[in-house]
Amino acid sequence: MCGIIGHVGEGNAIDALLTGLENLEYRGYDSAGVAVQNGSGIEIRKRSGRLSELKTSLLGEQLEGEVGIGHTRWSTHGPPTDENAHPHTGATDDVAVVHNGIVENYAELRERLREHGHEFTSDTDTEVIPHLIGQYVAEGMATEAAFRRAVGELEGSYAVAAMVSDERAIYAARQGSPLVVGVEDEGVFLASDVPAFLEYTDTVAYLEDGDVAVIHPGGIELTDLAGRSVTRELRTVDWDPEQTAKGTYDHFMLKEIHEQPTALAQTVEGRVDRRSGAATLAEFEPGDFAGIDRVQLIACGTSYHAALYGSLLLNDAGVDSRALLANEYGDRSPPVDEGTLVIAVTQSGETADTLSALRRATAAGARTLTVTNVVGSTATRIADDRILIRAGPEIGVAATKTFSSQAVVLALLADRIARDRGDDSPLGPTLVSALKALPRQIERVLSSTDAGAIARRYHGSRSYFFIGRGLGYPVALEGALKFKEITYEHAEGFAAGELKHGPLALVTPETPVFAVFTGEEDARTLKSAEEAATRGAPIVALCPADHRATAVADAHLEIPDAPPETAGLLANVGLQLVSYHAADLLERPIDKPRNLAKSVTVE
Ligand code: G6P
Repeated sequence: MCGIIGHVGEGNAIDALLTGLENLEYRGYDSAGVAVQNGSGIEIRKRSGRLSELKTSLLGEQLEGEVGIGHTRWSTHGPPTDENAHPHTGATDDVAVVHNGIVENYAELRERLREHGHEFTSDTDTEVIPHLIGQYVAEGMATEAAFRRAVGELEGSYAVAAMVSDERAIYAARQGSPLVVGVEDEGVFLASDVPAFLEYTDTVAYLEDGDVAVIHPGGIELTDLAGRSVTRELRTVDWDPEQTAKGTYDHFMLKEIHEQPTALAQTVEGRVDRRSGAATLAEFEPGDFAGIDRVQLIACGTSYHAALYGSLLLNDAGVDSRALLANEYGDRSPPVDEGTLVIAVTQSGETADTLSALRRATAAGARTLTVTNVVGSTATRIADDRILIRAGPEIGVAATKTFSSQAVVLALLADRIARDRGDDSPLGPTLVSALKALPRQIERVLSSTDAGAIARRYHGSRSYFFIGRGLGYPVALEGALKFKEITYEHAEGFAAGELKHGPLALVTPETPVFAVFTGEEDARTLKSAEEAATRGAPIVALCPADHRATAVADAHLEIPDAPPETAGLLANVGLQLVSYHAADLLERPIDKPRNLAKSVTVE
């Protein structure tokens, strides 16, 4: 976890560094720090807490330097204190380092460095890196060679950037954690992710594992760890900086909920044959999936719920499929052979649990594919194939629009796989008309929703339950996850029929039950809701206006008439809004919930 930024160029780097950190705060916000080089050594400022703490501490100070690095932290080794904040220095203040990842052999390296008289002032694994570089420089090595040797000794994962006193350069390397370079006329950026510098440049190059970069005002030298020159393609990203700003919304999450109609239009654009109703997905040659016998979807968090949604649609289309939690995907995972397609569903493409499951699937001989939002992310490089969900940048820690786009891409994929295999029941025609209608229907949910009133009505309840059947089940799980993530209130999602097998014991008048109706055996879902209502629970029905559940429910969140393939996605938008308003009433930091981070790059 953590976000790193670096800038080398004309003028003072500090504004670019602080802007970069602000745009990277979604990666962690336990502490923040910067180091700049100003001709008289390295100056470091760092603070525990959010970036705003650091910014306040910098007010009234003229911190200047044309070369600088910065960091926003999500703690792994040691609590979020000033001492543990990055940048870290070595035995002297001549080397400063920021790091994202985990140095697994740090204890051993520390021990070795101690024998050379090094003392450590933090609990972090990172601190060994500047000490190592400093040690090798002290032994007479040139900085680049010292940096190369130091990173070569690290085991684990890293995206690391280092500065050395009085050198107008940044040394950087990556292994298992993301790092991207941004090139502008006046200088060069280095960051964990593109939004960090998007308002300065959209020309980027993604570094790969094993790459070492030396960045100076004249440009970038890229090599591998052994010093052999490597080339990484410069490309233009078509994200608009406006897309990463909040605009008129109070929170990124609300903005991203409202972006769903546009995001979904982009997701589907050019991927469906409107005449035949078939999913085209031009990323793949015709018949590419003909030899697939079964599909395993691996993912975490919200992406897991999208994976569950996708696996149900695959089964509907006649393809044997199951969704598995990436962090449970190990020795006991179901068998894999050359007819198995493993799909890693990951918004960021950087979730360590998902990446490691993906690597295991590859090692076991499966064909792999990733469904992701981030071009050039690690998952896109590890997997054999990739499909972008094209939802645009998502900044709020709680995933919203990317869930919808993931589910839709998986629906298209289900149809395409089934057709390639020659199965009888591809989803095609129903799916196409449903997808066509979806953006407009979501707009209706967004403009007419009573979510705010429902959040107020049930404010102060003891627990919040979410139930659904079939495609409504992943939506119930996602509704509960969203609710707990941003309100910090207790929320659980259940398969509707399971309520009577245990959870009903918890039901009281203080446990509102949100029931998702997707048109699949709604009578049975209604029966489960009634069982809760009999025990006094208030029922909130997510269903069309004329649905018979409205007669039983205490409150109604209307969703437009839609087939089951998209009804759940419409209900999910309603639930996202309920969670948002409930969190707002509680004055929670909605975009950055405590203890969570958008992209968890540690296992
Ligand atoms: C973190 C985030 C979740 C997200 C999960 C998977 O836990 O807080 O919102 O769903 O990671 O992220 P991914 O980028 O792999 O979809």
